[in-house]
Amino acid sequence: MKLTADQLRDKYLKFFASKGHAVISGASLIPENDPTVLFTTAGMHPLVPYLLGEPHPAGRRLTDVQKCVRTGDIDAVGDSCHLTFFEMLGNWSLGDYFKKEAITWSYEFLTRELGFSPDQLSVTVFEGEGHVPRDDESAAIWKSLGIPESRIYALPKEDNWWGPAGTTGPCGPDTEMFIDTGKPACGKICRPGCHCGKYIEIWNDVFMQYNKTADGSYEPLKQSNVDTGMGVERTICMMNGYATVYETELFAPLMAKIRELSTARPDSEEAAVRAERIIADHLRTSVFVLGDPKGGVKPGNVGANYVLRRLIRRSVRYAKLLGIGTGYTRTLAEIIIANYKHVYPELEKNAETVIAELVGEEERFEKTLHAGQKEFDKVADALKLHGQTTLSGRTAFKLYDTYGFPLEFTEELCLEQGLAVDRAGYEEAFKKHQETSKQGDATFKGGLADNTVTTTRLHTATHLLHRALQHVLGPHALQKGSNITPERLRFDFSHPEKMTPEQIQQVEDMVNEQIKRNLPVAVTTMTMEEAKAKGATALFAAKYGEQVKVYAMGEFSMEVCGGPHAATTGELGGFKIQKEESSSAGVRRIKAVILNVV
Ligand code: SER
Repeated sequence: MKLTADQLRDKYLKFFASKGHAVISGASLIPENDPTVLFTTAGMHPLVPYLLGEPHPAGRRLTDVQKCVRTGDIDAVGDSCHLTFFEMLGNWSLGDYFKKEAITWSYEFLTRELGFSPDQLSVTVFEGEGHVPRDDESAAIWKSLGIPESRIYALPKEDNWWGPAGTTGPCGPDTEMFIDTGKPACGKICRPGCHCGKYIEIWNDVFMQYNKTADGSYEPLKQSNVDTGMGVERTICMMNGYATVYETELFAPLMAKIRELSTARPDSEEAAVRAERIIADHLRTSVFVLGDPKGGVKPGNVGANYVLRRLIRRSVRYAKLLGIGTGYTRTLAEIIIANYKHVYPELEKNAETVIAELVGEEERFEKTLHAGQKEFDKVADALKLHGQTTLSGRTAFKLYDTYGFPLEFTEELCLEQGLAVDRAGYEEAFKKHQETSKQGDATFKGGLADNTVTTTRLHTATHLLHRALQHVLGPHALQKGSNITPERLRFDFSHPEKMTPEQIQQVEDMVNEQIKRNLPVAVTTMTMEEAKAKGATALFAAKYGEQVKVYAMGEFSMEVCGGPHAATTGELGGFKIQKEESSSAGVRRIKAVILNVV
């Protein structure tokens, strides 16, 4: 059966709605409350509190489409199916149905709705380890549906255990579904999970029964959950009989443009094709990160900002390899936005920022690329002349600090020259630099609360700050981005000019006053329309009639939000603004800390 991505998303949501699932909106690509990861990596990610037992406002059966970014596989990008951005279709049982229904519906959807032949399907189940036994139950269910034993593989933890998404959280054994492309076996141990391209994984049902804690142990969860994830790009690729995801309509116009803009071809055709795919993949991811409704991630030197910078710069470098001229990021971004705006209207809404940031970063990098490349060539030649094989950490840091070469980028250049990089030396130089620049930063933070408690409280402080800014500056001071680490909150909001010291003081005082009042933080569930009618601030769109949670702090603040939050504002202990600065045109940024009460 031939199917477009639009048809697939639609079919999936309808199918699971017919099985009693509430269709919810996908979340932002920038995680709300999880400082252990930089981006949303799976559909389950925004649902972590509910997998841990908190009731979800829409019920115990959910389905959605979630934008995901994963950079763990960045080096595999360029093959037929690995991507740094992808859309994940998912269905969840929050302590409701379990293996039998999950697997039966997966089978039904694949064979009846998508028309895959049962003969094309191979599945894997968990082989068992330690106190978690082999998943014979899932194997028996697959068998009862007609999958022969010869195509049911029991594999170890590295293949058939999923999660947690960050360092802690819900996880469990899974059963994965693969489509046999019909290619001949590679000759090694070729089975689902082999990377030769014969078997492509398109869906994964995770049975989340465990919570991985900070000390690395697994404790049983209060409820047995199901978390599934199906990759949109791979599935339509398989359904249409394409050899690679780049042939699907999600990439085709982009690939055609990249080819049209190319004026040079590297010697090996394989290298040329890889370059084209890397450019397409990395720019698509960058457009989605920059266009995210939560905002706030711009090319920079740390965390998510660094990942974005690395993606853009890597694409520029491969564009150079193909002789693609300056300004191509704009041309390609326009195609990506046009291709996706009917599904993700935020891309069109934020198009101006997306393009300005891409072009800005492309230009910044171009300026230094030439000089940096010269410096690199000089060092590489000298090393080779003296028979040395390792580039020093100090040089790698200089290339980073002076020429804006991400470390991984220097490593790629070195690899091409048969050189290694002293990574430890680089990290040491980096740390030393950071320590020097941090000196003099007074810290206000005290208390002994752990990271999760602190980030939850910082999130509560963010709501108070948002409201206080509107009181002091006016109703235009709306949230444009937010980011929380265990140390501080960062909040971007619209405001045309620098805040005066008096305004900063007023905002700080107003937040501290709410903390002193020790307001209870109350949560209620209602539809988005009801929330808006009550005057709640709502930053993100929700489907009509969708149930949402509204957090109120006394009369002071009311916001639609996923939570979690502190129980009372008093827990925050105190609030201090450390910095007020420009974020981008018309957007200011505040960094603030809390005192924490144990
Ligand atoms: N969390 C699982 C995955 O990412 C299933 O959604 O594959």
